Amino acid sequence: MKVVNQVLPALLLICASSIISPAPAQVPTTVAAPSQLQLMPIPASVQLQSGRLPITDAFSIVTRGYADDRLRGSIARMTRRLAGRTVITLPFDLAADESSATLVVQCERGGSSVPSLNEDESYSLEVTDKQARLVAPTIVGAMRGLETFLQLVQGDRNGYYLPAVRIQDQPRFAWRGLLIDTGRHYQPPEVLKRNLDAMAAVKLNVFHWHLTEDQGFRVESKKFPKLHLMGSDGLYYTQDQVREIIAYAADRGIRVLPEFDIPGHSTSWLVGYPELGSAPGPFKIERGAGIFEPALDPTRDQTYKFLDAFLGEMAALFPDAYMHIGGDENEGKQWDRNPRIQAFMKEKGIKDNHALQAYFNQQVLKILQKHGKKMIGWEEILHPDLPKDAVIHSWRGPASLAEAAKKGYNGILSAGYYIDLMFPASQHYLADPLPANSALTAEEAKHVMGGEATMWGEWVSPETIDSRIWPRTAAIAERLWSPRTVVDVEDMYRRLTVISRQLEELGLTHERNYPVMLRRLANSENTEPLRTLVSVAEPVKEYHRYQMRPQTMLSPLTGLVDAARPDSDEARRFAAMVEGFLSDAPRYRLNRSDLRESFTSWRDAGTALGPMIDRAPALQEARPLATNLSDVAIAGLEAIEYLSTGNAASSEWRVAQLAKLDEAAKPKAALELVIIPSVRKLVIAAAEPPRSQ
Ligand code: ACM
Repeated sequence: MKVVNQVLPALLLICASSIISPAPAQVPTTVAAPSQLQLMPIPASVQLQSGRLPITDAFSIVTRGYADDRLRGSIARMTRRLAGRTVITLPFDLAADESSATLVVQCERGGSSVPSLNEDESYSLEVTDKQARLVAPTIVGAMRGLETFLQLVQGDRNGYYLPAVRIQDQPRFAWRGLLIDTGRHYQPPEVLKRNLDAMAAVKLNVFHWHLTEDQGFRVESKKFPKLHLMGSDGLYYTQDQVREIIAYAADRGIRVLPEFDIPGHSTSWLVGYPELGSAPGPFKIERGAGIFEPALDPTRDQTYKFLDAFLGEMAALFPDAYMHIGGDENEGKQWDRNPRIQAFMKEKGIKDNHALQAYFNQQVLKILQKHGKKMIGWEEILHPDLPKDAVIHSWRGPASLAEAAKKGYNGILSAGYYIDLMFPASQHYLADPLPANSALTAEEAKHVMGGEATMWGEWVSPETIDSRIWPRTAAIAERLWSPRTVVDVEDMYRRLTVISRQLEELGLTHERNYPVMLRRLANSENTEPLRTLVSVAEPVKEYHRYQMRPQTMLSPLTGLVDAARPDSDEARRFAAMVEGFLSDAPRYRLNRSDLRESFTSWRDAGTALGPMIDRAPALQEARPLATNLSDVAIAGLEAIEYLSTGNAASSEWRVAQLAKLDEAAKPKAALELVIIPSVRKLVIAAAEPPRSQ
């Protein structure tokens, strides 16, 4: 991909010097958004100009070149959001007069009505003090540009405006996805729709719809109705609903990639059709979390006849060129125990379960090809017999992506983008499908098509799912769209905050549901102390939640760990304050009063939580956390006193405080207090010999 260097007026470089490095002429090392812009993802090239285009009630849009209902719909939605944000009544009819229009949208051609992998998503956007002009080869490119237009809008005492700017933009990777697992927990269509809106806002273009799991079969099959009727608790998408979601996604330039996970992860298929299984059954919908034994029987013709009919039905329903067959985490235990399967393997010279799964994949591949689909599967499908037109989806680590690319397979990366693991946005942001130190040749690197964030569904409900996806996924969207050199984490967080608020315009509930959940837990309108606690607590990382708090798919997801969110803003701000304070040695004035204020509010919240927990039994599990919060706060206050007065704390004090912090650092109720590493720094500094003033 071409990385276009930014050209910035000298004046801007002065005021934005902390985040903008003037890159060398040929190989830019840093590309960042000018600090007064709030674009996410950052375009391939941005040049700020002087001047501004005001947004007033004289606003109008005109189209030139190709226009259709998809484009007009996109323009109308953008206008509605702009009107909502600015509280200015804007005309919804397209204008006729180009010279007086605020925005001219000029499209060369339509592109395919259902977006495809090789869609041209490029656009250019030039804003002057007279007019904005968006030029794109396709409708989808224009959609991407309309999102940028909306992100450019700013306000000051003179009103709303767009800064004059020249943008030339195209994605770094063609495949930029979000997987939503609707198998473990069903998500109603409105949840999917609002997430499609959010995806479009950050230029993601693949909705990977994980439709079948051990815990649920979520799509209506007219050919095999016992799949959804017996495998879903009645929670499935009708084919009409599927078509509606696909159309909704297409209207936003998003492909819908369906996944039918086979041969493992397939318990829910076997409830209605036990004859497909590798063990006698009967089978029940799985309620637990984990890896389960049921797997389709790869040795019987009947299995493939069934898959031919079912996947054929799904191939007609889902228009995307690709179909995901899963293929992950099949341990083959039922295969090991089935004498008929063992005999089959012996007869065919199939040496192990991996080879048996490869055999299965080959049959499935033929079925997909017959129905005009290309196959994609999780990295386990990689096998010497796998034809080269299959796509490898890397999830256990980036090595499989590199291996696939070296062997000539196209691939996408999800390792590093597992948002269900509750890591901060910064961590996902720095995972790159094609890092600078990649060992791939330029030819091999072409096989890396992009990546997908994965929202696995064990512990998400319609109420909480948005807060697990957003805003962190916007950082992943930037990684997949923007030049590789866009890596300034601090600037990413600056813009993430803005984008997060804009996503709320689209109805996303990642912020809105938080106070709702706290009120319910507190059994009160007054949630302040609880909010103070939860604002510095994060759900435990990786898969420790289940170990600490075993639940099933039928458990309510309304607990404290569900209300808490990953990547605490409060803790990040606090860590920065502590860094500033400690850097101001030996006076320790910087941030001192703010830190005192934070510690005092934590100490008091810890105390106030006692009676609140007494009134709200659902909060019982928070009691030790409340005590820990007070303890940590008192340690912090004392550390600040020592440092501010220039008296070193005794080593006994240090040992006692560090022991308290160690205790508080142990997760409780599947939550961890994420302020502790910074408090630890204060405690350690407080017990060091004072430096001379
Ligand atoms: C996976 O996470 N099992 C693909």
